[in-house]
Amino acid sequence: MKFWIMHDTNFGNGKLLAETMSAVCSENHEVRIGDIKKVSVEEIINDMPDVLILGAAIRMFQGGPLSKKWLKKLDNELEKSNKSIRYGAGFITHGLPSNKIQGWVKRYMNKLKKAQNVREIYFPCFTGQVEGQEGPFKDGVLEQAKKFVEEFQNWMQES
Ligand SMILES: Cc1cc2nc3c(=O)[nH]c(=O)nc-3n(C[C@H](O)[C@H](O)[C@H](O)COP(=O)(O)O)c2cc1C
Repeated sequence: MKFWIMHDTNFGNGKLLAETMSAVCSENHEVRIGDIKKVSVEEIINDMPDVLILGAAIRMFQGGPLSKKWLKKLDNELEKSNKSIRYGAGFITHGLPSNKIQGWVKRYMNKLKKAQNVREIYFPCFTGQVEGQEGPFKDGVLEQAKKFVEEFQNWMQES
């Protein structure tokens, strides 16, 4: 299958997470990575992946507004071109502890669920906490990310 893993990164943590996930998926699949600020939704639609993993970051108490906007545009353009992406998953990077960000995570996943042209959404969302505001990731996050994509791949195989 063809994967796109998208991130919205300022300090490189989201990109590192995407690369870590890609290292696992690319054993069995064709994987491309992109920054939502640089890769247009048209480019994705031209390439037509089977799988989209969409990353976001919580900044200034907002849960990934750029990623949500990008997703909405993608969904609209998919609709216009009568295409769809079969599988979707999400991840969020954050500075606050996990128990403080669950509201943003839920709202982010609701947006993924609402994107009708990304048909089957995997739950839960992966969340990666950074040290302070800029990172690096807390211990163990990258290992957990590998496990997350392994489980996501198993879920796709079973569905
Ligand atoms: C100006 C600023 C505001 C931030 N606000 C929040 C916040 O409200 N909640 C939170 O959990 N993390 C916050 N963070 C931490 C970001 O989530 C973190 O920098 C980002 O996820 C790291 O990913 P990146 O390196 O891919 O940009 C903030 C960081 C910056 C620089």
